[in-house]
Amino acid sequence: KKSSPLFGKKVLVTAGPTYEAIDPVRFIGNHSSGKMGFALADELARLGADVTLIAGPTTQKATQNLKRIDVVSAQQMYDACLSVFPETDITVMCAAVADYRPKQVATQKIKKQQSDLVLELEKTTDILASLGSAKKAHQILVGFALETNDEENYAKSKLEKKNLDLVVLNSLNDKGAGFRSDTNKITIFNKALERSVFEMKAKADVAKDICSAILKIAK
Ligand code: C5P
Repeated sequence: KKSSPLFGKKVLVTAGPTYEAIDPVRFIGNHSSGKMGFALADELARLGADVTLIAGPTTQKATQNLKRIDVVSAQQMYDACLSVFPETDITVMCAAVADYRPKQVATQKIKKQQSDLVLELEKTTDILASLGSAKKAHQILVGFALETNDEENYAKSKLEKKNLDLVVLNSLNDKGAGFRSDTNKITIFNKALERSVFEMKAKADVAKDICSAILKIAK
């Protein structure tokens, strides 16, 4: 509807984990369920946005009408994000992207050996940082931060280093927050480093709070 607050806005959301192959049957992954990213994509669509959701491996289903692109690895997520980003007005990077991947991917299943196995890992590309440096003045970029220690300082330095407009901090120190949980407890920092602290709530309601913060800075 034309009266919807995000009508006509092109929005990109990433969600879920990435899987980095070790061999044809094994991977390095993480505990991200995709719940927060899907809740955000649904809420942004409900607000009238034209949403593209780029999702890593997850069992989540979107309830709203949106464009979904499924990917597996950090490299695939990077490629998909780069092709969509130039056209977007608002981008929210909620995916838990692997920071490292196996340097060699074995073409056959690695056999059990007598000795220990050493895996060499190489860095993946930081998608959010790449988008941050490509960002145009009219584009809004929102990142997430999940830390186990000194979390507020890391969140603020992430905001500045990656050229973000908002950073959403979710702490693993709060019970019921973060991975797999249906609830989350967040703190949002804006560019002026002003802090908004929210109560623990259902991820659908957390998504509403994040969208309100986005609406405040969206023109
Ligand atoms: O620096 P850190 O990885 O903790 O930042 C987390 C934020 O960066 C999240 O928004 C996540 O989606 C994004 N990210 C990314 N690409 C990576 C690593 C993280 O987009 N390779």
